[in-house]
Amino acid sequence: AGLARQVSAWRDTGEGLEAAIRACTRCPLHCHATQAVCGEGPQRAALMVVGEQPGDQEDLAGRPFVGPAGQLFDKIAAEAGLDRSRAYITNAVKHFKHIPRGRRRIHQRPDAGEVAHCRWWLDAEIERARPDLIVAMGATAALALTGSGARITARRGTVERGRLGHNVLITLHPSYLLRLPEAEARASATADFRADLARAAAI
Ligand code: URA
Repeated sequence: AGLARQVSAWRDTGEGLEAAIRACTRCPLHCHATQAVCGEGPQRAALMVVGEQPGDQEDLAGRPFVGPAGQLFDKIAAEAGLDRSRAYITNAVKHFKHIPRGRRRIHQRPDAGEVAHCRWWLDAEIERARPDLIVAMGATAALALTGSGARITARRGTVERGRLGHNVLITLHPSYLLRLPEAEARASATADFRADLARAAAI
């Protein structure tokens, strides 16, 4: 009932999208997450940045991209001249999917069904923001935004047409950079990511 009430308030007035997202019980992912993490930034934004799903720290803080991947994003965005506060930054999936391992919570990639289900909220955020460009960071965001699950390596740096007709710049996910064990590969991927963000900053 909470969700239905929040959704009809949002449908009727165009206000309260965040409250509706926070009330979401449309899929089982909400059961084990602390809270839904909504996008952050200006509601109307020329630039939108989309990641995968909140991580451990985002789940606790209730804010997107505040953990290690977010800190790396902030650093590289600053180097690229992209002002995070100007962009609307969100995730394809709003709840943290994970499995417990001892006291740790291990991230699990959302599957295609979960991405499709949560697209409802992502599309609402896009319709409200009316962006000129959407940056898709990583495979999950690219899948949610374009419908294509093809590999990112072949697509990064290209602009594809999104499901709602927007321009979608495909790039790497900052967590991918953090996971690359080899310094040379990491430097090269980081340079690619920085170049993509610089392109987005020019919007
Ligand atoms: N990774 C994401 O994709 N999103 C976040 O908010 C944090 C980490």
